[in-house]
Amino acid sequence: MINWFPGHMYKTKKLIRENLQWVDVILEIIDARLPSSSRNPLLGEMLAGKPFVLLLNKADLAEENENQKWLDFYRKQGYATMLYNALSKRSKGEQKKLALLARREAREELSSRRKKGIKSKIVRLMVLGIPNVGKSTLINHLKGRGVALTGNKPGVTKGKQWIRLDNDLELLDLPGILWPKFTDPAMGYKLSVSGAIKAERYDPRQLAIWLLTWLKENKPGRIAKYYHLDETLAVDNILEVFCQKRGILQRGGLWDLDRGAAVFLQEFRRGKLGRITMDFCPVDEAGGK
Ligand code: G4P
Repeated sequence: MINWFPGHMYKTKKLIRENLQWVDVILEIIDARLPSSSRNPLLGEMLAGKPFVLLLNKADLAEENENQKWLDFYRKQGYATMLYNALSKRSKGEQKKLALLARREAREELSSRRKKGIKSKIVRLMVLGIPNVGKSTLINHLKGRGVALTGNKPGVTKGKQWIRLDNDLELLDLPGILWPKFTDPAMGYKLSVSGAIKAERYDPRQLAIWLLTWLKENKPGRIAKYYHLDETLAVDNILEVFCQKRGILQRGGLWDLDRGAAVFLQEFRRGKLGRITMDFCPVDEAGGK
């Protein structure tokens, strides 16, 4: 079981509550590989009534048919939702779509402004999401210039900042948040695999073994296809052979399983094992928001 202390969680909740009044639409960024585990269950109760856009980022890393299933699932629940790839070079279409979606969700607010004689057409969005889901990359993508801070450590976005975009949009960027407890231990592993949980909080070897086991069970053939490793081996042995093939050695000549595990996890995160969606869509269970 993965443990961590969500120290900044309470501060962020306060920050959200304090700033809710300044924004028109909530933009929750989730990981398309984990469309259920990367959502924050606390948001629903905190943000009741606020217009909401759910953006499945890293769609390029998730399976296309699963992306479609999750989009349908969330749409059936009444969410304005879309897929996004914040690393994509062809960005104009996605940016436009997001602006349209946000504007559509803010239509009541915009019309009440017009009635009050307020001319501003600016839609203000609060950007929320768990660490490493791609918030900073997405903000840079929307800006078209590399201004927002990005980094490979979860929680790099500190404090809050307003960012003005084209299309009459303004973004309020808040620090990444996580919920206080997992409902399911597998969720902790999946979030660690995705990079949402800091590397200091888990044992890389244990996590890599968990991922190898998950892959063998749920995506048979992937390890063999992408790494040319014998999948019928025990997972510990697979990791060892991985180190051997890569020449990942400790001083003294032993295989460095910890470093090998970290390399494997990083490659998985970057899509080296192909497009993989780790959460299965409960297609038949669509309920209310
Ligand atoms: P955060 O602010 O939410 O914490 O996340 P951040 O933008 O720092 O992104 C975390 C990692 O996810 C980054 O990679 C970033 O490049 C990657 N990323 C963000 N959006 C996308 C996406 O739509 N598709 C893909 N494939 N990757 C995305 P990193 O591990 O820091 O390393 P690097 O590859 O940037 O060196």
